Amino acid sequence: MEGRRRILVVGGTGYLGQHLLQFLATSRSFEIAFTHHRPIPPQELLDALPSVKSFQVDVQTGEGFNAVSASFGQPDVVVNCAAISVPRACEMDAEAAMATNEPSSLVKWLHGYGNRNSLLIHLSTDQVYEGVKSFYKEEDETIPVNMYGKSKVAAEKLITEKYENYVILRSSIIYGPQTISPVARSLPIQWMDNVLSQGKEVDFFYDEHRCPIYVKDMVHTISSLTNMWISDGKKMQLVINTGGPDRVSRVQMAESVALHRGYSFSLIKSVSASSINRGVVSPADISMDITRLVELLGKKPSSFHDGVKATLETIPIS
Ligand SMILES: NC(=O)c1ccc[n+]([C@@H]2O[C@H](COP(=O)([O-])OP(=O)(O)OC[C@H]3O[C@@H](n4cnc5c(N)ncnc54)[C@H](OP(=O)(O)O)[C@@H]3O)[C@@H](O)[C@H]2O)c1
Repeated sequence: MEGRRRILVVGGTGYLGQHLLQFLATSRSFEIAFTHHRPIPPQELLDALPSVKSFQVDVQTGEGFNAVSASFGQPDVVVNCAAISVPRACEMDAEAAMATNEPSSLVKWLHGYGNRNSLLIHLSTDQVYEGVKSFYKEEDETIPVNMYGKSKVAAEKLITEKYENYVILRSSIIYGPQTISPVARSLPIQWMDNVLSQGKEVDFFYDEHRCPIYVKDMVHTISSLTNMWISDGKKMQLVINTGGPDRVSRVQMAESVALHRGYSFSLIKSVSASSINRGVVSPADISMDITRLVELLGKKPSSFHDGVKATLETIPIS
């Protein structure tokens, strides 16, 4: 691998994809490209990252990957952020969820380069775990309880069986600032800030636990893996729980937002997740042991407290 290294972000218009592109574009050592699914990528993103190439690709069919080969070339690293990432949407259209989230066309395209392997960094989820205990380890059995988790387990199986050089990141909730081109869905900290700022009581679950990760730690993880592959060229076969250091419920998340903003804790009404039908089964406790991640980064990711503070500093008080 000689010359400037090439990184392709598949699903670069999404929440993580945009943050990753924004960071990678600051480095002169990389040529960067991203894929989008919508017909035209957001103009704000193109304006903010003028040196980054974009390609329309449908991962369900693989249409568009040949254009990447023709005008960008084989990437040294592919980061796969493309997915139907909303569990309820996966539940409503299981076929589309499987076809999008299982990266068959991407792996087939990469196989076309023969033995000249690219590193594939694939985004999976904590929802591969059943959610019946605390601090899951990577070796624990994956027992997904919803279609989103099932499609992600299928993706992991495909990659581990059919591809030689990969890192699978089992991500918890990713939170942080809004993206260059705002994403359509509401972001967790911003949503909590908004509802609590209205001064009315709001329901939050006390019995679902996660290890949310600050988006900049996720970007740093991907960047560290990229640099490892580029500097030593040793193939990787890794699965890594990618979460923050704190196991928190939605009540605790809301309390952290309230603490930083000075909202009264009395607005936070503690309710059971079982009291609300969200149209999808949600695992109760999928907190993760992140020892492997800490070893990789050489330090702990941001505490939830610090990540919330950094996120809220980017949002004006309403
Ligand atoms: N965000 C989180 O809290 C979180 C937590 C755990 C795991 N993850 C995982 O991390 C990854 C990135 O998450 P995210 O929040 O950035 O997702 P996201 O905002 O929903 O973005 C999804 C991306 O996938 C693309 N896409 C959707 N259908 C496609 C198709 N048929 N062909 C090609 N591209 C397609 C979208 O393109 P368009 O925008 O052009 O439609 C978009 O770029 C996903 O795998 C997700 O499951 C995320």
